[in-house]
Amino acid sequence: MSSAAKPSASSKKAPQPALKPNDLEAHFMPFTPQRSFKRKPRLLTGAKGMFYYSDDGRELLDASAGLWCVNAGHNHPKIVEAIRRQAGELDYAPNFAFAHPLAFQAASRLCAEMPGDIEHVFFSNSGSESVDTAVKIALAYWRMRGKGTKTKIISRERAYHGVNICGVSLGGLQGNRKAYAGAMMPNVDFLPHTHNLEKNAFTKGQPAWGAHLADDLSNLVTLHDPENIAAVIVEPVAGSTGVLVPPKGYLEKLREICTKHDILLIFDEVITGWGRLGKATAAERFGIQPDIITSAKGINSGTVPMGATFIRKHVYDAFMQGGEFGVEFMHGYTYSGHPLACAAALATLEVYKEERLFENAAKLEKKWADALHTLKGAPHVVDVRTIGLMAGVELDPGKRDYPNEMSRAMETFDKLFFEQNVVMRFTLNTLAMSPPLIVNEGQIDEIVSRLRKTLETVK
Ligand SMILES: Cc1ncc(COP(=O)(O)O)c(C=O)c1O
Repeated sequence: MSSAAKPSASSKKAPQPALKPNDLEAHFMPFTPQRSFKRKPRLLTGAKGMFYYSDDGRELLDASAGLWCVNAGHNHPKIVEAIRRQAGELDYAPNFAFAHPLAFQAASRLCAEMPGDIEHVFFSNSGSESVDTAVKIALAYWRMRGKGTKTKIISRERAYHGVNICGVSLGGLQGNRKAYAGAMMPNVDFLPHTHNLEKNAFTKGQPAWGAHLADDLSNLVTLHDPENIAAVIVEPVAGSTGVLVPPKGYLEKLREICTKHDILLIFDEVITGWGRLGKATAAERFGIQPDIITSAKGINSGTVPMGATFIRKHVYDAFMQGGEFGVEFMHGYTYSGHPLACAAALATLEVYKEERLFENAAKLEKKWADALHTLKGAPHVVDVRTIGLMAGVELDPGKRDYPNEMSRAMETFDKLFFEQNVVMRFTLNTLAMSPPLIVNEGQIDEIVSRLRKTLETVK
């Protein structure tokens, strides 16, 4: 060893503390511009009811129910207690060839909230998985029925169906698909989206223009032939791509065309379920019977990961053939029907009923719409869209060089957090709101007034 390599007392490094004071590096964050986030993090450390609490001790009004999911309000004591109790009683039980009673109880009670003859549910852990499950059920269903050529899935532009390869293949957001182009599912086609600022800007509820866009489904059916189409999947109200409300008569037409050509209709209700539109489902709200409903989020108020795929009786019955000892559906997740998720779902459903939260959402719909629509004329606002307790406020994106510069919607979101103590979502150029269903009129006014103040400071 040369003398130069010998450590001298002065070159010895000071011992490193076990944990750096701001150690944010390891976490590869989902859907986040993480380099800018890690320079200036937005950290949530607690929550109660309508509020979040930040690491710097601020109380923030939650205008988005977390990620469209905390419908019963944060840390509801009844739901917290149910999860706590269940964790002490039965932490985990497999649902492959074993089961635990809560999975059956949860299934029965949740199915009772579904419209018509939707009588069965398959559990998973997320909205993305509920969509994968729905597509697998649709494909397997047609094989069981002896119609194995029915394999195409029709989705819609500007759709969001989660992030698994299936959901991304069905998704209509270019940014979410680009890097995975080589892995996209074959046999997918798209309806046009229904968003049109020229025709429908500043509509409260369902726009009058646009039902004819559903006729494109007839064109796709002609093009591909009904014998090749398994299912049509739509979000009744598209949430994650900017709160796009279906035109009057649009969903009805989709149902009519699907029925006429023997195509399954899947409503992706991951956002619209569990009171968001004032009813248990958008299907109930709009009076339309889908064959499959996908669900997650509000199913247990976002407390424990849970997804669910609800199916009509005839779909389930098609699987119940063959020998009694053969597995009817070759699908399942280790955590399908997890005891904690089921306990949380059962408690959440009780809270929804006892506190009449769906009714509260319905009662406040007009107030919500009226308050949000006062933003017409506020700086940068080019559209306000509302239905149930959902709202999208679309901004003129301006001429920023996104992604090198913060987009205008992101700047608004960031200022709302740091300067106005409001937690809100943004998606593309739209600020998206979906407060917990426990929100009151004063809080609605507060959300709108803080948003207005913020818009006035955004360049
Ligand atoms: C309509 C819809 N489907 C699927 C998903 C995916 O859900 P998750 O993020 O739980 O996988 C979402 C998430 O926002 C959604 O809005």
